[in-house]
Amino acid sequence: MNVEKIRQDFPALDSKRTRKAIVYFDTACQSLRPQVVIDAVNRYYLQEPACSGRSMHQWAAAVTREVDRARELMAKFLNASRAQEIIFTRNTTEGINLVANAFPFRAGDVVLVSDKEHNSNLIPWQMQVKQRGIELKIIPTCPDNTFDMDAFEALLDKRVKLVALGFTSNLDGVTIPAGEIIRKAHRVGAHVLLDAAQTAPHHPINVRALDVDFLALSGHKMLGPSGTGVLYGKYALLESLSPFLVGGDTVANSTYANCEFLPPPEKFEAGLQDYAGIIGLGAAVEYLQHIGFDTIRKQEALITYALSEQLKDISGLKIIGPADPALRGGVTTFYIEGVDSHRVALMLDQMANVLVRSGQHCVHSWFNARQIKGSVRASAYFYNTIEEANILAECLRKIRKVL
Ligand code: ALA
Repeated sequence: MNVEKIRQDFPALDSKRTRKAIVYFDTACQSLRPQVVIDAVNRYYLQEPACSGRSMHQWAAAVTREVDRARELMAKFLNASRAQEIIFTRNTTEGINLVANAFPFRAGDVVLVSDKEHNSNLIPWQMQVKQRGIELKIIPTCPDNTFDMDAFEALLDKRVKLVALGFTSNLDGVTIPAGEIIRKAHRVGAHVLLDAAQTAPHHPINVRALDVDFLALSGHKMLGPSGTGVLYGKYALLESLSPFLVGGDTVANSTYANCEFLPPPEKFEAGLQDYAGIIGLGAAVEYLQHIGFDTIRKQEALITYALSEQLKDISGLKIIGPADPALRGGVTTFYIEGVDSHRVALMLDQMANVLVRSGQHCVHSWFNARQIKGSVRASAYFYNTIEEANILAECLRKIRKVL
């Protein structure tokens, strides 16, 4: 793979444009966007800046076609049975909230999550504990942060109605054995929701082979525009759910007293949508397929390996997650005993324009339970280079000498 050539697709990596060489290691928060995605967004605003699915005029028809196309592209990307199983949202968080609020829970029903979910796959369930009396149970992970199948099975019984898990962790990049988990959950009659925010950018996903019931993802972590996302759901399940947000475009008809909801996905896409974002997300899917997941994973693995090899020689530095870098995708999260993670991140930025995320990465619960104050997360993608990994490691060696 020619990384230098690929980097030319990303305007934010063009140092002539940005006037400095940015080393971007914060893809787990938000990926960079290739020019084709930016062009698709601009094309909407420049050529057909109208509503989809409402008005009858030519611009509206063009936008409707483009949005339908993006839905088809996403359905194929996930191997969904039909495009109507794809609901556009603002992000993974919104998709999870939709399921949490729309799922027909009864008091006493159990939801299982793991002990390292980010807040978006924890707080929506905590709210359902308060609002509908469900019980939230936490599956402990193994000491190396990998999925503990025995602990999961010990919690599985007929009261479990939903298992909601991060497919790939934003904390340490570990991907769980989703197929096996889903088979076991289905055996007791539980449905499964996967939070694939960190999976979709890095691994091929086949929702039909997985037999997953719901899957949420974010467009902005997979080269798409900010504030775009998708909730996949099996069509029959989506049909059975009550809508979450309601209003314009969710109904076929209404009177002062009542309304008739449209079928999915419309009944879940209330109000005017981010058409530019959705069209841009379609372009992102096409670009990702053009690059290919083999290329993506190979480059990420190289970077994670290079970083892990160099970081293990830095005194007091601890990597979060499994020791084997191959299990951590593109993520290297670490902390240095007694050193403030935000300080390290600021120094990396100031020393060499290295951009990382620091703190608790929205997984406060995991850090609080272990009394770890915070960490630095370097998350790589296929546009990162070994030279960039070396710059980061060199900066950390210097920081360790002064802090
Ligand atoms: N969950 C996102 C992250 O890990 C926002 O940065």
